[in-house]
Amino acid sequence: MSERYAVIGQPVAHSKSPWIHEQFARASGQSIDYGLIEAPLGGFVRAADEFRAAGGKGLNVTLPFKEDAYQYCAQLSPRARDARAVNTIRFGAETFGDNTDGVGLVRDLASLGAELRGSRVLLMGAGGAARGVLGALVEAGVARVTIANRNETKAREVATRFRGVSAGGYEALKPEFDFVINATSAGLSGNSPGVPLDVLSRAKLAYDMVYGMETPFLAAARAAGVRACDGLGMLVEQAAESFFVWRGVRPDTAAVLQELRGR
Ligand code: ATR
Repeated sequence: MSERYAVIGQPVAHSKSPWIHEQFARASGQSIDYGLIEAPLGGFVRAADEFRAAGGKGLNVTLPFKEDAYQYCAQLSPRARDARAVNTIRFGAETFGDNTDGVGLVRDLASLGAELRGSRVLLMGAGGAARGVLGALVEAGVARVTIANRNETKAREVATRFRGVSAGGYEALKPEFDFVINATSAGLSGNSPGVPLDVLSRAKLAYDMVYGMETPFLAAARAAGVRACDGLGMLVEQAAESFFVWRGVRPDTAAVLQELRGR
């Protein structure tokens, strides 16, 4: 019988993860059964326990449960501990929590030709999505990461936990960044974080972790003549790393991403 996996979130109906993992399994000659779990707010633990009791081997965790998943796991990878957020759970003797978002972003940026080593990065947002990628950006050898957030206190609190990361609000930002990365959820509600136009227009690349839509942030970047990329590549790359955590096989991502883009 195929081993069972699922993505858990709210909402989750339109998730591309089942399709992506089916492609990975097929390409690597494996058989898995990957489903969707829509849990109510406050219902993460119960849903995860039930899935495990029914023989589930692993979960991908998406909004808004990444912090619940962090609390839930008995064992954590260093990158999940740094992020205080879990997007990948592997059930075994102990419940293991990992976070593959940072690797996913860094690999996608590399495939886009964005050289992170020595670069200056502006990361917008201070929630789970931002925390999930900060460690990987620092490890990739950036010269500097600045976090900007609407709630500046939150940005400062996050920055203190990472070496070489500074923080502040949007107004004081100077136009000095190579890459501007939107890790806020603003685009989902048709809004843009408050990055000043001169900061955006000086960047080599504007990246939004939201995918499947032209967010106001990406539209503003394009209008300013800046290369703009959505988070679809990151989605595929973080999924590949989750697949590796579960199955020990690192799947090829290029063909899967190309097919998703073509849809
Ligand atoms: P996630 O896990 O996706 O990061 P989150 O923890 O709810 O979700 O965080 C959402 C992030 O998007 C926060 O940084 C939030 O800013 P605040 O901390 O100031 O609330 C940011 N965000 C959401 N909507 C926004 C908007 N319209 N403009 C700017 N920032 C926004």
